[in-house]
Amino acid sequence: MTQYNELPESIRHLIDNNRNTNQNSAFKDLIREGGYVPPEEDLLTDAITALSMGKNVLLKGPTGSGKTRFAETLSNLFNQPMFNVNCSVDLDAESLMGFKTLDYDGDKQIIDFVPGPVTNAMKNGTFLYIDEINMAKPETLPLINGVLDYRRTITNPFTEEIITAGEGFGVIAAINEGYVGTVPLNEALKNRFVVIDIPYLQGELLKKLIQDTSRLDEERTTDLFVQLSGDLIQAVTQGKLAEDAASIRALIDACDLSAMIPPKRAIQRAIADKLDEDREKEFVMTIAETLFG
Ligand SMILES: Nc1ncnc2c1ncn2[C@@H]1O[C@H](COP(=O)(O)OP(=O)(O)O)[C@@H](O)[C@H]1O
Ligand SMILES: [Mg+2]
Repeated sequence: MTQYNELPESIRHLIDNNRNTNQNSAFKDLIREGGYVPPEEDLLTDAITALSMGKNVLLKGPTGSGKTRFAETLSNLFNQPMFNVNCSVDLDAESLMGFKTLDYDGDKQIIDFVPGPVTNAMKNGTFLYIDEINMAKPETLPLINGVLDYRRTITNPFTEEIITAGEGFGVIAAINEGYVGTVPLNEALKNRFVVIDIPYLQGELLKKLIQDTSRLDEERTTDLFVQLSGDLIQAVTQGKLAEDAASIRALIDACDLSAMIPPKRAIQRAIADKLDEDREKEFVMTIAETLFG
């Protein structure tokens, strides 16, 4: 586990400063380095604080809100490589822990063990990122309860090896509650995490993200896309559109395209046509029409 005093000076500075004030320049430098732009500064501070104390962090938010980018940023900030688990109904003990395989030692056949992400992250003392944690079957993840609590230990069911996590090991998970195909996260599992709510980036910060990361460089159009995002989020909140419509990922795709093709067509391709219902597609295109005329 990374102790506070082992953190890079810049991060300690960040945490210290945030205790007193929300305005500090160290924070702004960190954003530029890492990639994720936190809608509120507390998100970054709190995630860093929790991880530096060895607590598991659960990033909770809608699709395309930057959860994966946030986890990558945290692993960069801590200078820790990250091993990934992508959850699905197919997730099983082998995809977490690893599997046995036949190999040759000279001409002698031997059984080898190929470590999985949990085994790797624990042994190397690095981060483990569990994406879409509520897509897994409810019975699968409790396998790693021991990894998630203070024991930080697991017996590998395939080798009987007892693995204890190395220094620096940390767990970040992501969840999109209410998304189709997900199951509510088991309470015992949820209990083992500190939860950080991840809202969509909006306003000036979103504008800056578009300017920094998309191919679009026209300010007027960028402003309209920021407005579009706000309108889409509002429509999703009101239940008029499926959640995917508000994804920042899709928004940035639309911005990229609109550097080359008319914005309305970009919005149709990157946002509207992904939605299931015609009514939703029309709704998005009506907003686009209002803004981009
Ligand atoms: N707050 C943010 N800061 C930086 N990039 C963001 C942010 N929100 C969304 N993005 C961008 O949107 C895309 C989707 O983000 P991602 O982390 O994959 O979302 P999620 O994992 O929540 O579905 C990424 O390419 C990222 O660049
Ligand atoms: Mg993701």
